Amino acid sequence: MNCTREIAKILTQITPLSQNELELFIIPAPSPDLGDWSFPCFRLSKQLKKSPTQIAIDLAVILEKDRPELIHKAEAVNGYLNFYLNRKAFIESVLSAVITQKENYGKSDMGEGKTIPIDYSSPNIARHFHVGHLVTTILGHALYNIFNFLGYRAVGVNYLGDWGTQFGKLITAYKRWGSKERIETNGIDALTELYVRFHKEAETDICLNDEARAWMLKMQEGDQEALGLWKWFCEISMQEYQRIYSRLGITFESYRGESYYNDKLDAVVEELREKNLLQKSEGAMIVDLSEYKMPPCLILRSDGGSLYTTRDIATALDRKQTYNFYKSLYVTALEQNLHFAQWMKVIELMGYEWAKDLIHIPYGMVNFEEGKLSTRHGNVIKMDDLLNEAVSRALVIIEEKNPLLPDKEMVAEQVGIGAVIFNQLYNNRIKDVMFSWDRMISFEGETGPYVQYTAARANSVLEKSTLNLSIEIDFSLLCDDYSYDVVKLLDAFPDRILEVAEKYEPFIISRYLISLAQAFNKFYHNNAILSDDLPLSAARTVLTRCVRNILKCGLGLLGISAPNKM
Ligand code: ARG
Repeated sequence: MNCTREIAKILTQITPLSQNELELFIIPAPSPDLGDWSFPCFRLSKQLKKSPTQIAIDLAVILEKDRPELIHKAEAVNGYLNFYLNRKAFIESVLSAVITQKENYGKSDMGEGKTIPIDYSSPNIARHFHVGHLVTTILGHALYNIFNFLGYRAVGVNYLGDWGTQFGKLITAYKRWGSKERIETNGIDALTELYVRFHKEAETDICLNDEARAWMLKMQEGDQEALGLWKWFCEISMQEYQRIYSRLGITFESYRGESYYNDKLDAVVEELREKNLLQKSEGAMIVDLSEYKMPPCLILRSDGGSLYTTRDIATALDRKQTYNFYKSLYVTALEQNLHFAQWMKVIELMGYEWAKDLIHIPYGMVNFEEGKLSTRHGNVIKMDDLLNEAVSRALVIIEEKNPLLPDKEMVAEQVGIGAVIFNQLYNNRIKDVMFSWDRMISFEGETGPYVQYTAARANSVLEKSTLNLSIEIDFSLLCDDYSYDVVKLLDAFPDRILEVAEKYEPFIISRYLISLAQAFNKFYHNNAILSDDLPLSAARTVLTRCVRNILKCGLGLLGISAPNKM
């Protein structure tokens, strides 16, 4: 049962507003002594030609009569209409839904038949998987899980940066200073070394950049040696990426990267020309976007080389054809805002009505004490190192709190990685994220480990309980404020998920999980769950089971596992 929806439904009979509008106006009461929900009547005053106070009084009478099983009391206070729900009925309906629907609670079929490719992670080959890609990977994966949960067919697309000038540089560096053995043993570390060295030496050796351009040209012309090295660099890089994805529990359905579109770029240029969108400018080909207050979109460089933008246009056309998508999402840093705005505008100018379904999902930066991260100067923070650090810190805490825990290493892996993901998804995505180890790994506070720990605590209660849960539950035993607060949150879960999908903001779930964990911990500290009072124990055990399931489900949607014991 969704109470605001139910209340709104009743109110439509007696107010000029629609159910949707009414739903938005119904707000949680500011304090428990003012009821559960509150409806401000001020907005209706003009339309109904009555004072808000009078409207509230009139509505109170009607509401109390209309659905006594839902609303126990409706009260007019200073132009607000305050409702007290019939707790027992409400609790019963919520908990029965959570129990009977099991892992389907909160799911929806709204996405049935609709495909949403999500372009995320998409690292640039031959460079370490670094913290810059952490965010797109974590955020994209959460969105992927959430859209699937809502019945869409989400498709994880890894648009590998596997083509571009960096390969010319890398081949040049390899030919000059590289060794096959070193790359075979050190993998991407050795490639990064070469890349960094190239940039350092290019500061003084002006030939290097020309050489790199020449190699790039060879790659474009299909030169065997150049392509062989390119392919090898890609394979070496993929080994590292795959290891990280499997640690994070991520798989992609498609790895069509930038190189896949090499032979599809001419057609894009041709189409733009046919549609009269192309213009010459200083030797390059552009689409003029001044009318839309944007710099021109570069389609072909003066040397004939194609660009990131042109490739994205080709990619979008290909995705439309492959998936006939309902929406197509791109998760990247907000530094790329202009790039996405430009090429998406070009798609619109090409006359594709589905341009409106292309959605860029930007996010802010991750900050460490060292400052902005970059590969160029070699001070990159590697994803592997970061995850290892998180896991070893988690292990220290586990050793301290629960030295006898079985499978400590495995739990530490789940907790450490969970902490990183949760920290990343705890604020709206545009906000820069600060990496503070002590805060994010802590088992207390607003952290992933705190939610995991609460789920494990609920789980251990359930393991201890020997009750036969098929007995009839007396839901009136859960009417105390602690239990009731928990139930209200359980009721809100499905709506929160919808909100995430609407706003592309997984932090709504993270915040929700913290509230639920806090409410459950209050309940746990104030109410003995297992006691000699069997009916009471049974009712509280059922509530505990519901909480455990929803915490686990919510964590799962964020991409975090919930260990049974911690
Ligand atoms: N490889 C790019 C980068 O690391 C991200 C690609 C994003 N996706 C896209 N279709 N442009 O910055």
